[in-house]
This record gives sequence, C-alpha cells and structure tokens, in this order.
Amino acid sequence: MPGVRPSCAILLYGLLTVLGVTQAFRTVCYYDGKALWRKDVVKVGVDELKPILNNCTHLVYGYAGIDHEKFTAKSLNPKLDLPESKDVKGGNFKSITSLKTEFPHLTILLSVGGDADYEKPEKYLDTLNKPYSRTEFASTVSEMAKAYGFDGIDLAWQFPVITEKKEKYSWSSIVHKIAKTVGISGNIDTKEAEHKEQFTALVREVKGVLNANNCSYLSVSILPHVNITAYFDFPGLQKYVDHYTLMVYDFRNPFRVPNLADHASPSVFVYADRVVEQNIEWRVNKTLELGIERNKMVLGIATFGRTWKLDAITDKTGTPPLKADGPADAGTYTKTEGLLAYYEICPHLVESTQAVTSLTMFSRNPDSKKILGTYAFRLPNHNDKGIWISFEEPETAKQKATYVKSNNFGGLALLDLSMDDARGLCNGNKYPILKAVKTVF
Ligand SMILES: *[C@@H]1O[C@H](CO)[C@@H](O)[C@H](O)[C@H]1NC(C)=O
Ligand SMILES: *[C@@H]1O[C@H](CO)[C@@H](O)[C@H](O)[C@H]1NC(C)=O
Ligand SMILES: *[C@@H]1O[C@H](CO)[C@@H](O)[C@H](O)[C@H]1NC(C)=O
Ligand SMILES: *[C@@H]1O[C@H](CO)[C@@H](O)[C@H](O)[C@H]1NC(C)=O
Repeated sequence: MPGVRPSCAILLYGLLTVLGVTQAFRTVCYYDGKALWRKDVVKVGVDELKPILNNCTHLVYGYAGIDHEKFTAKSLNPKLDLPESKDVKGGNFKSITSLKTEFPHLTILLSVGGDADYEKPEKYLDTLNKPYSRTEFASTVSEMAKAYGFDGIDLAWQFPVITEKKEKYSWSSIVHKIAKTVGISGNIDTKEAEHKEQFTALVREVKGVLNANNCSYLSVSILPHVNITAYFDFPGLQKYVDHYTLMVYDFRNPFRVPNLADHASPSVFVYADRVVEQNIEWRVNKTLELGIERNKMVLGIATFGRTWKLDAITDKTGTPPLKADGPADAGTYTKTEGLLAYYEICPHLVESTQAVTSLTMFSRNPDSKKILGTYAFRLPNHNDKGIWISFEEPETAKQKATYVKSNNFGGLALLDLSMDDARGLCNGNKYPILKAVKTVF
C-alpha cells in the first residue's frame, strides 16, 4: 500500500549525522485537524496547507487518543479522521498522509494525547502501569499509523502537571478511586519513579512495533508544566526517539493564573518576583542537564495568544504583571476563552504610539530587549473590561529560531499551523510566523 516506506527525512537526518555535516534544523508543523471545522474564512484543510508545506520538515497531525478500557489507540474524532467522515472524502487521516505524494520530503506523524484527550486523563498513567496495557497501546497505535500511511507516531503523553504554587500535582477531573490504582494520592503521583521507567518501556515497545511496520519515526512531545525530571529518562530513551518537542509556551496562562496577566512565554527569567522555572531558558537548561541530545531537542512555540480580562486601570502602559479578572472572552473564530489565534490578533493591532479608539483594537508593545515577548492590550473603559494579550508574532518567533540555531538545538515547532495567519487576514501574507522562522533556518 502507498506510504508504507521509510521516509526520506529519516534517511537525510541519519546521513547528516553520520557525515557530521552542518545540521538541518527541523521545522515541525503541528496541525490540529479540527481546524477544518472552523468558519469558512479561517478554515484550514489540505488545500490551505499545501502552499506552505515546503516550509515544514515534519507535519504532526493532532490528535489521537486512548480508549480507557481497552488501552488501545483510537481516533478522537472519527467523523473527521476516519473513512466514515462526511466532511473529508476518505477521512482526514488519509487525506493528510496522501500529501506525501506531492511532498515526499515531509515526515508525517500522528500525535497521541496533546492535552486534547480530556476524558479520564489518568488513563495515560494507567496505560503505563502494566505490560499488558503497554503492549495493547503499542500494537494498536502502530497498526493505526500503518493502516493510514503515517511515517510514524508522536507521543504527546498526558502526564500530571505541576500546578501553580500550593498543590503539587493535579488533574481537574481526578477521582479518588481511580487515583488509587494509578498511584495518585492527594494530588501527588506517588509512583513517579515507576511511571518514568514504564514510559521508557512503552517508548521502546512502540519503537519496536513501528520498526516492524516500516513506519518507524517516533517523536515525543513534552507538554507544558509536566515535570521533566520526574518522567523523562533521556539516556534511556535515546535509542528509540528521533526527536523531542519541548513545549515552551503557556508558562503563564489565564487558567493557571487568572488574577494576573503576564508574559506567557518569556525567554529568560528577569524579575525576582516570578517563578524561577517559568521561562524558556530554565526549561531548556534543565532538559539538557537531564541528558537530552541537543540536536534532538525541538522547541515548540505557540501561534496563539493568551488573553486576560483586565480588572482596573493599574498601569496605563500595560506593563505586566497586571491585575486581571480571569480569561478574556473567546475569539470569533477559535471560540475558546482565554485564547486568540494570531490571525484574530494581528488585524486589530495599532502601534503603542497611536490611540486605541475602538473596542476591536489592541495597542501593540514589542519588547526592545527581545527577552519577554510582545504584548497588546486595551484598557478598561465604561462597560468594556479591557483585554491583555501575550502572543508570539513573526518577529519574536524569529528570535526564538535564532536561539535554536545559535545553540545547535534540533529545530522549532509551531503549535499550530492553523492558528498562524493561514489565510493572510492581517495583510495578505500567508503563514507569516512560519515564514519568519524559515528566514533563520
Ligand atoms: C517557504 O514557502 C514559500 C512559499 O511556498 C517558498 O517560496 C519558500 O521557498 C519556502 N522556503 C523554504 C525554505 O522552503
Ligand atoms: C518493510 O520494508 C522492507 C524493505 O523495503 C520489506 O522487505 C518488508 O517487507 C517491509 N515490511 C513490511 C511489514 O511492510
Ligand atoms: C519534579 O520532580 C522531581 C523528581 O521527583 C522533584 O525533585 C521536583 O521537586 C519536582 N519539581 C516540582 C516543581 O514539583
Ligand atoms: C542556561 O544555561 C546558560 C548556559 O550555561 C546560562 O548562561 C544561562 O544563565 C542559563 N539560564 C538559566 C535561566 O538558568
């Protein structure tokens, strides 16, 4: 069947490593298939992806999930992904992997988890717990990759996250009964060390089955706020993982810190009053210290902004941290509280030297030191609560790509393509964030 073959990208990287040639940086493009269900003017499907895929080395399709009872891999949106789909002929899985005919350089992966698999998230630890459940998952995920023509799998495993201050670990939906079986007690994962070993065992097994099926690429995505020390044994994983995507966004977001609007993805820690771990450099340094291979570490940045409602006018310059009143209202197209896609932000920006004269505008404030990132805001006024936004834009994405390049890391990932300006709504230029990254790599 078509598509079941080692990908060109794998051969290329292998060769470059052997020859010790200047490294080719990976540009890992995540694509959430649900973007196909958005309104027509912003909808992103295969036709909208095609014009930019030469700029990606990897296309990561999100997200598949796990069946809690059977520990098998499953589509989270069968009506979109699978042949039964009425929206995409043959289903989106097939339609995405068929892009390989036109873009043979692309490594196309199916991602599992990614914080998109909300139902009983504790099943991710449950699956690790037993050899039986690991084998079930490994064999079914690999069958899925093979059946639909993916080049491999991305494991965006949903480990418990470190919470802001007080509580140590938690899941919003944790239930005590289940907690007992997986080793979660009082919001603390009491079997952390076992889960770390078991994750390595799972990765080894998944890689083995993928190899046998000729769709052998395996990447691991490390989600925001997961304790890397607790769960990732990089020396143990080394042989099986082709690259890692270390998500370095959402250090602060309106759900974790509703009362304080702040930079979501600062490059470095510069204030004494912030949490020392909540910046890119700290997380990158920690990961290197734990033994990740430098050239396999891809940094994942967001193409969406994080938004807070403002509480009162505390500072007319909008300089964070600002007192806030929780997540700002959902955007017209993405319909998600506390979040706006880049294309929902950029058409509304005015430079900070100009007055904000309407309720659709935001004043843009780039950071001249290139450390903290860009923010935009509109102060509260009468009935308007005002809004504060921390976001990535072409300029800041380029800075992050430069950081990757000058440190010889593995590349940069965008989460995701559909929230970059895929339609050119800002000024006609499509995918400005991705293009800015490509000027560096
Ligand atoms: C990126 O995509 C644009 C538009 O298709 C293309 O002109 C450019 O050559 C691509 N750049 C790279 C490095 O692939
Ligand atoms: C995998 O590829 C090899 C070499 O191309 C081939 O001999 C083998 O039959 C393939 N295996 C499967 C399971 O497709
Ligand atoms: C992360 O896990 C390590 C190892 O268990 C632990 O020592 C450390 O305190 C944890 N970090 C946080 C912020 O919880
Ligand atoms: C990260 O490591 C670099 C190189 O060792 C160092 O210069 C920098 O201060 C570190 N940053 C943080 C936040 O620990």
